[in-house]
Order: sequence, then C-alpha cells, then structure tokens
Amino acid sequence: MLSPGLKTELDKRKLSLVIAGEVEAFPEKADMVTLPSWPEFMLHDAVANKYWAELNVKHADFQYALVEKGSNKWVSVGNSIPVRWSGLLTALPDAGWDWALSSGMESGQLPNLLCALSIQILPLYRNQGLSTIMIQIMREIGTQFGFDQLIAPVRPSKKSDYPLLPMETYIEWSKDHQRFDPWLRVHERLGARVLKVCPQAMKISGTVQEWQDWTGLSFRSSAEYIIPGALNPVKIDIENDLGVYVEPNVWMLHSSDE
Ligand SMILES: CC(C)(COP(=O)(O)OP(=O)(O)OC[C@H]1O[C@@H](n2cnc3c(N)ncnc32)[C@H](O)[C@@H]1OP(=O)(O)O)[C@@H](O)C(=O)NCCC(=O)NCCS
Repeated sequence: MLSPGLKTELDKRKLSLVIAGEVEAFPEKADMVTLPSWPEFMLHDAVANKYWAELNVKHADFQYALVEKGSNKWVSVGNSIPVRWSGLLTALPDAGWDWALSSGMESGQLPNLLCALSIQILPLYRNQGLSTIMIQIMREIGTQFGFDQLIAPVRPSKKSDYPLLPMETYIEWSKDHQRFDPWLRVHERLGARVLKVCPQAMKISGTVQEWQDWTGLSFRSSAEYIIPGALNPVKIDIENDLGVYVEPNVWMLHSSDE
C-alpha cells in the first residue's frame, strides 16, 4: 500500500504500519501513545470526547500507527478524517479541529478533502524525523482514497512557550530563513503552505475544580492564567464556576498540485 520509498524508510527503522480495523484493540493500543502526548486539559475537548471512539470505527482506514518490530511497541499514532468543504480553502472554518471532527462524523455529504487531526510520537522516539514520515503516510493514505489535498489545523508545537503572543504574530517568526516553529517547519518542508489562522480550533470548558485537577494549579480569583502546554491563557470565572480555553491553530494545505 505504501510507496517503495516509505516502505524502505520504515524497514530501515524497523517499524511496521498498522491501520485501525486491521488489528485488534487499535483504540486501546493507540491510547498508550496518545494519552501521554498531551497535557491533561487537552483530553477534555467536548467534540473529541463525543466522537473519538466512533472515529476509529467509522473512519478506521484513516487511523494508523507505527509499531516497532521485535518489541511490538507502539511508537506513533496518526489520525485524520475525510471532510466536505466547498468554499475557498482560505475561508476554512475558524473552528478548525472541532469543525473537522464534528462535520467529518456528522455530515452525510461526499467528502472532498482529507483533514489531519493529530500525530503523536512517544517522547523517546521524537526528534528523529519520524513526524515527517507520519505526515507522508497520512498523505499516501489520502491519495489511495482519492484525496489529492490534505488540510490540517496545525498546532504549532512551541507556541505554548509564548502564550501571550497572538498566533498571527508568532507564525511570522523565522529562524535561519525557515519558520521558527518546528512543527510548522516540518509541514512546510513537505510542501505545505499556511492558509490562515483558525482562532477557535478547539474550545475546552470545565468547572474551576476540573481546571485545578487538570493543571495541578489553584485558581482563587477570576483572571486569565498561563497554563503549561496551552497556546493561549485560560479564562477562569469564579462566580460562574467556569474555566474556558480557546485554542488557536493554523490551517495548512498539502496539495499534490503545488
Ligand atoms: C510534534 C511531534 C509530532 C514532532 O515529532 P518529532 O518526531 O519530534 O519531529 P521531528 O523529529 O521530525 O522534529 C521536528 C522538528 O522539531 C524540532 N524539535 C524537536 N524537538 C524539539 C524541541 N524540544 N525544541 C525545539 N525543536 C524541537 C526538530 O529539530 C525538527 O526541526 P528541524 O528538522 O528543522 O531541526 C511530537 O513532538 C509530538 O508527538 N508531540 C506531542 C503531540 C503533538 O503536539 N502533535 C502535533 C500536533 S497534532
């Protein structure tokens, strides 16, 4: 199924590709990679919680993992979903990730694009170029199902170090003539281009106690707080017992025409 180049690359790294639906207990095994990859609060997006289990069934062909031969250790997981978008790509929804997952699960329309949802790599296997291979696999799976374009609400991996900076400013930063953010850089090196910021890619709400449990911090006044791993501050409203985090991402396009 994979191109000879990617097959060789996986063989060299002693990795095999597995697709949900082709192996037993894919969701449980994938969770062993996914859960430790995110700060706890990121696991409480209402849209994700509503659809994630079903994603592995309804769109099994688009969920995949790399498993180390010999040890049988699952080292990375990729998730994507076919979606329908008839408008301009530069007008993709501001609700980014939440829109992609909910419309991909609910819309009865014939999809015309593949949308990346996430790529996770176990910490021990990071910084070895595996993320490039994971994106290439996602693109090849898309092509196999007739999707020439892959859109992605990309979560810039170092934006959490600069939570007060507007995303529009952050993504313009460059370093050595390349994009400053490592994850945007990986996508761009594979030919992707930035379409626009999606300012409300995910919305995570919880009670004040839930936010305290998720972050290990104390919130005793209504204010905006900087949370480790968050790309923007979290708004805590003590009177209404509510904490809200709105995550910005960046819509990017991988296209075989470009
Ligand atoms: C984002 C992620 C998938 C990247 O995977 P990876 O295997 O580390 O990626 P690579 O080895 O290809 O490295 C990608 C780039 O990041 C850089 N990088 C890696 N770790 C870094 C760090 N701690 N600080 C700064 N840059 C770093 C690498 O140098 C590389 O850039 P370069 O090729 O221009 O030098 C991985 O870190 C991860 O799983 N994170 C948690 C989940 C997540 O955020 N997923 C992405 C959003 S869906």
